[in-house]
Amino acid sequence: MTSRYIQATQKLNPGPPPVWMMRQAGRYMQQYRDIRAKYDFLDMVKTPALAAEITLQPIHAFGMDAAILFSDILVTAESLGSHVDFIEKKGPVIAKPIRSLPDVSELSTADTVEKLHYVFKAIQEVKPSLNALNTPLIGFAGAPFTVASYMIEGASSSDLKTVKQLMFNTSEVVHALLDKLTLVTIDYLKGQINAGVDALQIFDTWALHLSWDDFQIFSLAYTQKIISEIKAFSPETPVTLFCKGSSGFAPLIAATQADVMSLDWPASLLEMRKAYPQLALQGNLDPYVLYAAPDILEKKVKKILADMHQDPGFIFNLGHGLMPDMNPDQVKRVVELVQQA
Ligand code: CP3
Repeated sequence: MTSRYIQATQKLNPGPPPVWMMRQAGRYMQQYRDIRAKYDFLDMVKTPALAAEITLQPIHAFGMDAAILFSDILVTAESLGSHVDFIEKKGPVIAKPIRSLPDVSELSTADTVEKLHYVFKAIQEVKPSLNALNTPLIGFAGAPFTVASYMIEGASSSDLKTVKQLMFNTSEVVHALLDKLTLVTIDYLKGQINAGVDALQIFDTWALHLSWDDFQIFSLAYTQKIISEIKAFSPETPVTLFCKGSSGFAPLIAATQADVMSLDWPASLLEMRKAYPQLALQGNLDPYVLYAAPDILEKKVKKILADMHQDPGFIFNLGHGLMPDMNPDQVKRVVELVQQA
């Protein structure tokens, strides 16, 4: 499949940049909320027909240049035996947080890929519709550090205090958990490739809490292992690494085998392009700009388009995900502005 998105990951896109948005399938869309009113979030994730339908919703409504599979990063935690609940206004909650080596030992890496079979079925189900639109499908997983953070904290945390306590006092617990997550994630992403995804993105949302040294020890060492295994398995599948904190960690991210570096909004795209001519770059509109008036939104989108004009390796995205209360008309405007560039 040649699409603008895949060409841009190879730095071979001759035309306007492709555009898609993190969390493009979600609660800001009425069509999503209609389904959500009838089902539990995890049931939606685990029902391939629903996951396929939700994956297509933003593509049909706004025509983004890539689809991302509707799922969640915490399915790998669940496949290891964690009990995950998604609670309205609170986010993910994990019933028995991991705090000790015996806790880690209870997690089982047996049959994890079989337990995630519903994801592969969703991929197979959605691919024909996307192929008909020549729209590639991005599969994904959470980086072990970010998934481990939820498993240790037990819920979203603003500072990862418990994770830090374990990291600094009993690092062997954290490393044992990261090892298990890494094993599952490698098999999970290979399974997604076998099922038909065109590209992969790894989400390391909580990396921004780490120091330069600890990012390498507790996050990148594991992500790097995943990326090299994926590259050995399928060299032609493009891999994007999204780190919140990418503006600071860019030199480290650039040294991985990732094809695309997804940037958060403190980063200067122009400076990053100068520093990393070999990488495709994705980003980096401040998502909160979607709350601004349409003319302000237009100005900010056009600034990015001007900075990256005719860059063959640029993918327009947000610096992080869409929020549930964002106006779908603003999403439509961004897609139109980029595609008319
Ligand atoms: O981007 C997409 O459209 C694809 C689907 C996707 C979801 N989550 C759907 C989802 C992806 C790629 C994710 C990744 C994810 N999940 C991350 C990494 C990227 C990021 O956004 O930071 C993280 C940290 C999670 C964990 C998670 N899952 C959180 C923090 C939440 C939101 C909790 C809340 O209530 O605000 C979820 C739930 C979730 N994942 C929803 C969706 C559409 C909302 C669930 C609902 O309908 O209630």
